[in-house]
This record gives sequence, structure tokens and C-alpha cells, in this order.
Amino acid sequence: MKEPVQLEECAKRIYEALPKGILLNTNGDKFNSMVIGWGNLGATWGVPTFVAYVRESRYTKAQIDKTGEFTISIPLEAPIPKIAKVCGSMSGRDVDKVKEAGLTLEEPGANHHTPGVKEYPLTLECQVLYSQEQDAGGIPADIRKAFYPAGADGKPDLHTAYIARILRAYVIR
Ligand SMILES: Cc1cc2nc3c(=O)[nH]c(=O)nc-3n(C[C@H](O)[C@H](O)[C@H](O)COP(=O)(O)O)c2cc1C
Repeated sequence: MKEPVQLEECAKRIYEALPKGILLNTNGDKFNSMVIGWGNLGATWGVPTFVAYVRESRYTKAQIDKTGEFTISIPLEAPIPKIAKVCGSMSGRDVDKVKEAGLTLEEPGANHHTPGVKEYPLTLECQVLYSQEQDAGGIPADIRKAFYPAGADGKPDLHTAYIARILRAYVIR
């Protein structure tokens, strides 16, 4: 059962949970969940939005680019260690995270195709409005050095910012 919630009421919980890791779920070739620690809840173009930052190397990035949507799943209490470990360190390219992490999926509402996760019950159904890859040259030098060293291919693993409209917010009971 999905119990609708007002974003104003759950904003504090989302900001408390983010630095410890919440889930960004996609459902492209298959369902997949990855831990995110960065994000913004707010308003863009007059609608409620969540902005997620996803590195180029993530399996998740190709899945969002394919479907244009994701769900955000937030625990109401501390993160569950097994979920945090599997979804924050393994890639959907290599494993089935539903199985590995023991996730229970809850089907989304109408016009959305990405389930939420019962174990992290506060859920935002999001539809991407706009995405933009970071311009490395525009990032302050100290941050660039700390977060974007050159990889094996000589290029930094930049984040793409996804500005997504929040269509529905609810708690899975
Ligand atoms: C606490 C924590 C926060 C993270 N935040 C992000 C994030 O905001 N953006 C990102 O691209 N990766 C982030 N990661 C890394 C991904 O969760 C990790 O690389 C994951 O295995 C990617 O899964 P995927 O390849 O299935 O997409 C974070 C990891 C942890 C443990």
C-alpha cells in the first residue's frame, strides 16, 4: 500500500538520509538500484524536482538515458548494511542487485515504470526533464583535483546532473 506524503513533510528526512546513502532505482534493461549521496530537493520551472548526480561510468547512467525516469528510495531509519554495500559498490552490469541485496519491489503508479523498494519505503517517482554533463573546465581546481582525477583512459569520470520532476511521493507500507 502506498501512503501519499507531502514533500514539505519529508524534506528533513531526505536531507538527513542523503549523506548516509539513499537509492536511485532504474528500470531499463532490468531493475537496478544504486546508492547516491548527492542530490537536491527543490523546485525548477515551477514544479517540484529532484536533482541527481550520476557519473558516466555507472550502469545507472545508461539506464536513465534509456528510460528518462527513476525512483528515489529513502530509508525511514538507518541504512540497511547489506543494501548499502551491494547497491553502493557493485554494478548492475555484473550482478542482479534485487537478489544480492534482498530488495522487495513495489510497483509504481500510473505512467511510471520504475518500482520503489519496500526496505527504503519513502519513495519519489521522478521523470527526467533535463540532463547536463558537467563542464570540467567550470569546476573549481581544488574540487576537480579531489573528485575528478584522470582515469585509465586519461579522462575524468564526470557527473551528469539529472533534473527530474517529482510526480508522486509516498511511503510504502
Ligand atoms: C554513500 C555513497 C554515496 C554515493 N553517491 C553517488 C552519487 O551521488 N553519484 C554516483 O554516481 N555514484 C555514487 N555512489 C557510487 C555508486 O553507488 C556505485 O558506484 C554503484 O556501485 C553504481 O552502481 P551501478 O553501476 O549499478 O549504477 C555512491 C556510493 C556510496 C557508498
